[in-house]
Amino acid sequence: MTVTPENAVTPVECDVWWAGPDLADPGLLELLDAHERARHARFRAAADRDRYVVAHALVRLVVGAAAGVPPAGVEFALRCRGCERGTDPRPEPHGKPYPVGAAAGVQVSLSHSGDRVVVALARGVEVGVDVETVAGARDIEGLAGFALTAAERADLEALPVADRTGAFFGYWARKEALLKATGDGLSGGLGNVAVNAPDAPARVTAWNLPDAPPHVRLTDLDAGPGYRAALAALTDAPLSVTARDAAALLAR
Ligand SMILES: CC(C)(COP(=O)(O)OP(=O)(O)OC[C@H]1O[C@@H](n2cnc3c(N)ncnc32)[C@H](O)[C@@H]1OP(=O)(O)O)[C@@H](O)C(=O)NCCC(=O)NCCS
Ligand SMILES: [Zn+2]
Repeated sequence: MTVTPENAVTPVECDVWWAGPDLADPGLLELLDAHERARHARFRAAADRDRYVVAHALVRLVVGAAAGVPPAGVEFALRCRGCERGTDPRPEPHGKPYPVGAAAGVQVSLSHSGDRVVVALARGVEVGVDVETVAGARDIEGLAGFALTAAERADLEALPVADRTGAFFGYWARKEALLKATGDGLSGGLGNVAVNAPDAPARVTAWNLPDAPPHVRLTDLDAGPGYRAALAALTDAPLSVTARDAAALLAR
């Protein structure tokens, strides 16, 4: 088929902003709302506080820039489909941040783990992003028992032992990115969504929820050694992903 402007599929542009907890600065707290500041103050570990403030300041900075509004004026509605379904027991306010007001229509997702903070942004298409630290000391077999399907576990067990921990967190990041794109969160059940083996380009192989999205794109992201990351978008159009360094944006 000849691709003409009429039948060409326009890719969905996704920006993936990377930062780290080392960029935490007291000045960034001013960008957070009262609920976020209270949550920030409750973290006991400095590392948790730093990841949190960088992630929540960054999401306002990138949404503000995309919508042409000052970052401190960006407002979010939080939505968790797990809570709407009654499968998430957490009482405190939480959920996927949806920009409202002047920035409505910009879609975001954020994730933080170890030395990585990541925010994904697209216009008009729901996105989900996840970054995971490859944590060697964890009980991978136990985690795989609830997070992976039987077919995924079989693929994992076919790998050399030394490769299994990295592969497991690759599965986890792909599946959690999908559940964050829909707003389900982990209570959507990592075992309800299946993906292919990590050595091939990422794709969804099954999604066992009655309201699973009709179209989804999934791609791995490069988060550097010791990390696995993935991006999901609820669209049938191809993704055009641009990785961006958030250091300059966060500098105070
Ligand atoms: C977000 C979630 C998927 C897990 O996140 P995580 O791996 O701990 O952390 P990440 O850094 O990757 O993502 C956290 C961000 O996802 C976003 N998020 C929260 N709920 C979300 C949801 N339902 N859908 C999409 N994104 C969500 C928030 O922006 C959150 O940031 P914050 O914690 O700084 O406010 C969430 O479901 C969760 O916290 N689960 C743990 C507890 C739980 O699910 N209990 C229910 C029993 S099954
Ligand atoms: Zn919830």
